[in-house]
Amino acid sequence: MIGISLLVIFTIIISTNANSEQSAEDIIKNRKALFSKNYNTAKKVQSLSSNGDFDEAKELMLEMSENYIALKEMFPENTKEGFKTEVTPLIWEEKEKFNSLMEKSSNDMVQLISTIEDEDDIRGTLGKLMWSNCKACHSKYRLPH
Ligand code: HEC
Repeated sequence: MIGISLLVIFTIIISTNANSEQSAEDIIKNRKALFSKNYNTAKKVQSLSSNGDFDEAKELMLEMSENYIALKEMFPENTKEGFKTEVTPLIWEEKEKFNSLMEKSSNDMVQLISTIEDEDDIRGTLGKLMWSNCKACHSKYRLPH
């Protein structure tokens, strides 16, 4: 009886570990995919806005804003290394700063939705409220690539 109980407990422990290993891989793959998607979306936002297609551009701005909120939750402790991640350890040393940069990036996209149409300098505004956030974060929290 005790032998079986121990076996069951042992099996649970092993499969739980296997699961968390698996999910670390999934999380890293998913966040990389979401960053790549945001990059493509940002390029579309740029071209749509330059062409004056603001309705479509705004939909994509909202999508990017929501993606940043999702991304903020995709950096748990067990995803610091492996699976071709390009993160720096600084993310976990300054988690609050990192999270607030994600939030700022998300809020800036929301701000763009309400202001972009009235801007004279579309390119400059997107530079300030969209592209500069990528750079600010990557320079500290993503490895040179
Ligand atoms: C608050 C931080 C932050 C912001 C803002 C941010 N990124 Fe990133 N980005 C990261 C981190 C961290 C990684 C590395 C993720 C990994 O390798 O696990 C990354 C990775 C990437 C990747 C590589 C994905 C892959 O397949 O390896 C691309 C492309 C990218 N970001 C584009 C952008 C663009 C474009 C923007 C702005 C529109 C942006 N990012 C904004 C933190 C950020």
